[in-house]
Amino acid sequence: MIKFPHMLHGADYNPEQWRAYPGIWDEDVRLMQLAGCNVMSVGIFSWAALEPQEGVFDFAWLDEIFEKLHGGGVDIILATPSGARPQWLSQKYPEVLRVNNQGIRAKHGARHNHCFTSPIYREKTALINSELAQRYKDHPALLLWHISNEFSGECHCNLCQEAFRQFLKNKYDNDLDKLNHAWWMGFWSHTYTDWAQINTPSPIGERLVHGLNLDFKRFVTYQTIDFIKNEIAPLRQITPDIPVTTNMMQMFYGLDYFKLAKHLDIASWDSYPRWRACDKTDMDIAMQTAFMHDLMRSLKDGAPFMLMESTPSMTNWQEVAKLKRPGMHKLSSLQAVAHGSDTVQYFQWRKSRGNYEKLHGAVVDHNGHENTRVFRDVAQVGSTLKKLGPITGATTPAKIAIVFDWENRWAIDEAAGPLKHGKDYDATIFNHYRVFWEKGIPVDIVDQDCDISKYELVIAPMTYMVRSGYAQSVEEFTGNGGIYVTTYWSGIVDENDLCHLGGFPGPLRNVLGICSEEIDALYDNERVRIKTVQGKAYEALGLCDIIHAEGAQILAKYDSEFYAGGPALTVNNFGKGKAYYIAFRSGAEFLKDFYADILADAGVKPCLQTDLPQGVSATLREKGGEQFIFLMNFTNAPKKIKLDGYTYTDMDDNSATYRNGNEIELAPVSVQIFRRGAHRASALTFNPQSKEDVT
Ligand code: GLA
Ligand code: ZN
Repeated sequence: MIKFPHMLHGADYNPEQWRAYPGIWDEDVRLMQLAGCNVMSVGIFSWAALEPQEGVFDFAWLDEIFEKLHGGGVDIILATPSGARPQWLSQKYPEVLRVNNQGIRAKHGARHNHCFTSPIYREKTALINSELAQRYKDHPALLLWHISNEFSGECHCNLCQEAFRQFLKNKYDNDLDKLNHAWWMGFWSHTYTDWAQINTPSPIGERLVHGLNLDFKRFVTYQTIDFIKNEIAPLRQITPDIPVTTNMMQMFYGLDYFKLAKHLDIASWDSYPRWRACDKTDMDIAMQTAFMHDLMRSLKDGAPFMLMESTPSMTNWQEVAKLKRPGMHKLSSLQAVAHGSDTVQYFQWRKSRGNYEKLHGAVVDHNGHENTRVFRDVAQVGSTLKKLGPITGATTPAKIAIVFDWENRWAIDEAAGPLKHGKDYDATIFNHYRVFWEKGIPVDIVDQDCDISKYELVIAPMTYMVRSGYAQSVEEFTGNGGIYVTTYWSGIVDENDLCHLGGFPGPLRNVLGICSEEIDALYDNERVRIKTVQGKAYEALGLCDIIHAEGAQILAKYDSEFYAGGPALTVNNFGKGKAYYIAFRSGAEFLKDFYADILADAGVKPCLQTDLPQGVSATLREKGGEQFIFLMNFTNAPKKIKLDGYTYTDMDDNSATYRNGNEIELAPVSVQIFRRGAHRASALTFNPQSKEDVT
């Protein structure tokens, strides 16, 4: 696990854009100190400045930046520059330019758009990375490597076609029949008779073959990782003690982050929540952002992660560039820390003067001074982060895991039927997650390949794809006393997108004790009634699985439609544990009630033993026997919270200690961070009759 000496606070910094403006660099350092910044990400798109001509390197400006930042107490996250190419590279080696899925090669332009297979691009990136590593390997300011920037996209050039075929040959043991079977190519007479007939998916070619589409998505992840490994190799060799990361993007669809993260020393991501949106409340946005933070923490097995980018004010790419309302900058920044980040970083330090991102939020605006609302907000976060030093490295003890699996997600979207629109895997995941976020219960996010044995409760909504090995790990988990929850539309296909034969949910049938025979799809405005055996009524929407209990106990039944009377919710006792099957898509009310019972059964407690008002969330981090509690109010109203049996010391304002039974008021759009002290039972000096609010 990577340990930073303190909480990091900083930004993407592009000093090369300001070389013709004397004095700016020194002014930057002065302002960084004022803003409480102790780290800068440098060099992200600096290739043209570092290698202005092929093989001609210019590090003089970067040397100066290293000295100036180091002199100002600012460490450096050094980026490899492959996120954007110099013009000369595309001109001389057009093979580095991507080809789209219709065979058209791009011209030079924009960024994040190189061929991941191109040997020339790999050679050039490895070379510049080696030069950078050699130059700065002994510099005390070098803290971390930032590999490229926001990896994304795919290429369909001939090199990539060949690499894809090679990937398939490895996967299918060089056996074309195996591939034909896995992709079910006898359908529509598409059987391959030669590996050369296989092309990447294309809207003007093969586009409906689920197995092909899925394997291509896997290939894109594989090839991107292969490219990243090529970038990392010289860095690990020359600077073995400097950790590496790359900045990920939310739940980015195109790359399986569980696989990518294995090659990084620390996870980092770029978070741009749309606060004050017109189609969602800030609570919804906060809940989804919390999920993404939890995902990043989970990618490296619970180790702290980095908030690599966030905007200090607004973006320039959202439909409507809303400013953050007062308090939101601190709340949003500290939400990352609350969920396990040891950094708060921004895009960008200083607004560029021209070109595409000149109107994107930055710590330093075009007016160039510190007397702005945004700068003051940033400086305030800097000062709070200094006080949170003891939290650096602290982890979050989650007893619950939600399974969010990239390959399953891709397969669900590929599937033709039972709903053309609104299969909504991501939204369903969020609906389950929300219950725990609202209660302040820590949750990890895992995929089907992760070890789930350490959890009490594992929730796997819509496990459409069940890959080999997963059902076995669920059986072990449940058999050993775990509680497993899954839903409608599970166990339909295997890893190749071939349907499980013999009855759904395929390999999960044993542990769940049910069999699904059909699934009914509902129009948006349709509802099916559900009734629990105790007589409580709910509604199903979207999808209703028609199942038979095969040993499982029925907890609720359909109460309308031709399948009324059939099971809608079941539980199967399996070994020492239980496996639940929610056969229908449910609203929030059902999930709340359902999980309240399960939590009691699993003995999983929220991090604060108190009811949180709506819009307030709580998280816990702990280290060396110490516990830190974050309370966050995402609403525009003050919220009162009654504290439980511990003492709480406000870390932002050391003078304030709150005791058991005290009610504290969280200001609108605010965060409070506490060090949790002794429990009432062990606090000898504590007088439970005391009416004192603050001591
Ligand atoms: C991404 C990129 C940055 C910048 C920001 C703008 O996160 O990594 O370089 O373009 O978006 O929001
Ligand atoms: Zn290519």
